[in-house]
Amino acid sequence: MSRAVVYRSYGGPEVLELLDVPEPRAGAGEVRVRVTVAGLNPMDWGLVRSPERAAMFGLTVPAGFGYDFAGVVDQAGPGVEGFAVGDRVFGGALARAVADHVVLAAPAEAPDGLWRTPDGISDEVAATLPVAGMTAAAALATIGLREGDTVLIGGAAGGVGVFAVQLATLAGARVIGTAAESTFPFLRELGAEAVAYGPGLAGRVPAGVTAAADLFGTETALAALELGVRPERIVTVAAGPNPPGGVRATGGAQAGPDEMGRLLDAVLGKRLTVPIAASFPVERVRDAVALQADRHVHGKVVVTL
Ligand SMILES: NC(=O)c1ccc[n+]([C@@H]2O[C@H](COP(=O)([O-])OP(=O)(O)OC[C@H]3O[C@@H](n4cnc5c(N)ncnc54)[C@H](OP(=O)(O)O)[C@@H]3O)[C@@H](O)[C@H]2O)c1
Repeated sequence: MSRAVVYRSYGGPEVLELLDVPEPRAGAGEVRVRVTVAGLNPMDWGLVRSPERAAMFGLTVPAGFGYDFAGVVDQAGPGVEGFAVGDRVFGGALARAVADHVVLAAPAEAPDGLWRTPDGISDEVAATLPVAGMTAAAALATIGLREGDTVLIGGAAGGVGVFAVQLATLAGARVIGTAAESTFPFLRELGAEAVAYGPGLAGRVPAGVTAAADLFGTETALAALELGVRPERIVTVAAGPNPPGGVRATGGAQAGPDEMGRLLDAVLGKRLTVPIAASFPVERVRDAVALQADRHVHGKVVVTL
């Protein structure tokens, strides 16, 4: 037997159940991964809450839960390329990552993803990279962030924000991040100047902003427009495909093919750290979701298996 987190009706954390399920087997062209850590993202519990959202991904109940995972390949079917039993791997498996075993094609087929975990990177960190790391990278690429920019990042202390702040700093930008006042020390530690989110944001932002990335909705994007930033230099990852004012939209799926390698290099080179806000054993997956769904987490929430 194997365990998997599943839900049989839509709702909040209370609908998530850890069940014993038959052990999945790797078929031709597939690997099976013994998952050790799953990273949580708002998308995961967004799908659990909303049948409409789930339907956009072809999901209906009963469904598995989670996307980001890290672990070890423990079965490889015939025809697998580039991966073998014993390899440390991480990746994304739509609606089935929070489980003892995940089966996916190798090489992976979108929307799934599969990468080798380099020595020197923990499973805990690897399990945070596919969604949050790639989304931050895609956001900064979309606005062409470069040395000398001053970038305003909305929701800068969250799962995507901790990557965006550090990647922007590494690119040579001055970074101003929005957060609650109690979060300012955390943001400064990451390398950003801090301003409070909420009404009147544009009036609080220091002069000279040249680009913006909104990681929470549209407040930061709209403030940047108000400050005269050109719409093509403003992106949001959290407002659907058609944000207002000509602002751009992107997501992790749009990240370039080289971005994961760059993230891994930055982590290995200790130029990028991944703050883990909390780690829960899988038996407490509901608590993990409730914490993240409160939307005041600093960094990533992970679940161990
Ligand atoms: N399109 C994609 O591919 C993609 C991928 C990943 C994420 N997303 C979306 O991007 C968003 C961010 O994801 P995430 O993982 O970073 O979320 P998260 O970790 O839950 O974000 C938490 C952060 O949001 C901040 N926050 C709370 N209320 C805020 C407000 N009113 N204004 C600005 N910031 C506020 C909090 O700061 P304080 O603690 O200081 O309050 C906290 O640090 C989500 O909507 C997610 O669905 C999209």
